[in-house]
Amino acid sequence: MTPPFPELDWHEPLPLHGWFLVAPSRQLKRGAVTTFDLSDLSLVVFRGEDDVVRAVQAHCPHMGTHLAHSSVHGSSLQCPLHHWRFECGSSGTSPGCAGPGASALLQPRPALHSYAVREACGAIWVTPRSESSAQPFPFFDGVSPDSLVYKQGTPVFLRCPWQAVVANAFDLNHFQTVHARALHGTPTIDDQGHRLEFRYVSKVTGDELADRIMRKVSGNSIDVTIHCWEGSVLTVKTRTQRRETFLWLSFLPVEGGTVVKPVYAVPRGSAPLLARLRVQVAGWLFHAFLKKDIRILERMRFSPRLTPEEDPYLCKYLSFAARQGSGSIPQPHSPQPL
Ligand code: FES
Ligand SMILES: [Fe+2]
Repeated sequence: MTPPFPELDWHEPLPLHGWFLVAPSRQLKRGAVTTFDLSDLSLVVFRGEDDVVRAVQAHCPHMGTHLAHSSVHGSSLQCPLHHWRFECGSSGTSPGCAGPGASALLQPRPALHSYAVREACGAIWVTPRSESSAQPFPFFDGVSPDSLVYKQGTPVFLRCPWQAVVANAFDLNHFQTVHARALHGTPTIDDQGHRLEFRYVSKVTGDELADRIMRKVSGNSIDVTIHCWEGSVLTVKTRTQRRETFLWLSFLPVEGGTVVKPVYAVPRGSAPLLARLRVQVAGWLFHAFLKKDIRILERMRFSPRLTPEEDPYLCKYLSFAARQGSGSIPQPHSPQPL
């Protein structure tokens, strides 16, 4: 009999190639450089003097100096050791950052490998793919980015692999036991290739403060649409009788666990100040919901044993998660002899 999902060591972090939230935009000023590490891949992310953010390989192709301490000149990055300067073009989407020679003695100079980068939702995001092979950025169908007001949440570190944290979003059986939620009707799940779509309508059965507020503002019918994008991002849209709220959760595998970075958003509407207040409330309600998962997932040794009869949604998610990270990602140049 075909197993419902691949038999893997599910506790070991599976590879990921999707989009990752690096930092809130405000933390990377013009001329500043920051770092981003994903497994064995190290990048530096910098904001040029033209205000454009770029992501490139972290190690200088000359002798391997880490470029975290390089300096920014216009749209170029200058290595701190021998001052090779790498021109990264007028946009963050150039195929590579060329290294023109300041000294003929040091020719030829390879280019820096560049990676796709986006500024969206008030944050900087990268993917370990080049611009030409990047998958679509995780956003909400039919929603204009400018129509939303965003709030960056506080990152959380969890000692368990990313696939265990993301599985929580597809685990309907814990909705009642952990979140005091029940379902209206039957959920739907649709594997769309690079993303997995999960939709359901829930109602609140609990009686904590956040439950009572949610019940009141929602009319006790919450239409939820979740997309899992390549495993590295979950987007969640909740729609009630009165309004919509939006959530991004970025999952970054790190030594010993996973860092989860949230971003909340609500429609800007015609009263921006009111929207700012509403996004604070939305962030608080989402956090009240998610913090129940956080304490339970901590130190989980993920080893799912399920049948499609018990949980068809989670089985479908596990098949999707096992598929992520397949294929190769562009690797930067090694230091080369001159
Ligand atoms: S190591 Fe970067 S220029 Fe020499
Ligand atoms: Fe949960």
